[in-house]
Amino acid sequence: MEKKYKNFKIVIKENYDSTSIVVADIIAGLVNAKSGGVLGLATGGTPVGAYKQLIAMQAAGKVDFSHVTCFNLDEYHPIAASNSQSYKYFMKDNLFNHININPANTHIPDGMAEDVQAECAAYEQKIAAAGGIDLQLLGIGSNGHIGFNEPASAFSRETNYIALEASTIEANARYFNSPDEVPKHALTMGIGTIFAARRIVMMITGAAKANIAEAAILGYISPQVPASILQLHPDVTFVLDADAAKNIIPRIT
Ligand code: GLP
Repeated sequence: MEKKYKNFKIVIKENYDSTSIVVADIIAGLVNAKSGGVLGLATGGTPVGAYKQLIAMQAAGKVDFSHVTCFNLDEYHPIAASNSQSYKYFMKDNLFNHININPANTHIPDGMAEDVQAECAAYEQKIAAAGGIDLQLLGIGSNGHIGFNEPASAFSRETNYIALEASTIEANARYFNSPDEVPKHALTMGIGTIFAARRIVMMITGAAKANIAEAAILGYISPQVPASILQLHPDVTFVLDADAAKNIIPRIT
């Protein structure tokens, strides 16, 4: 199902794999349409299937990343790039090592930065110097966070250093040996940085995300649900599988 709803697009596919194909096609479409395109990329379990598709598409000669620049949303702090739970490691392992992107064109906030404020400002500058983000891929945390922008009393503007919520530490602990190992802080693009992307694609899959998907896409726009601000973006597509969309389908059809 594909539906124009208010000023955004909602695409609902049967399952995780078909959702991943839609997302990969959108990303490949941008890369093929614009030489030197700038992608904003995300981590988490959700985009892994789309990354697998992109790897296969590149192997089949259907997409070429040699002129692409990309910026990831966020990184834990402190965390070494060599730590297999760092987002830097994740991106190499799940995408960069398997496609023809120039490693010099892949950017992720430095999880070992000593001066976190300087690192945040430098990251903003790098994005601006690249001409801004053409297409930003997003997942969503179960509390509605995007990047690591946790529910708050206000929307953050630029890349910033944040304390992770207990619920996020708990949710992400599944990837670490124990919850104690999850870093308590992170560097993340701000809501303003994300919102400045010319196009946004948010991927949401699985029944566990059904309530937050409904709140983010059809609920009140509030910094308590950071992803809800996307409803105001001029070019946003929400791509969901049927499980994640189960509360949304009856409300839009
Ligand atoms: C992390 C990331 C987010 C991601 C979220 C959901 O907290 N910072 O960018 O969207 O996890 O992850 P998952 O896709 O594994 O549910």
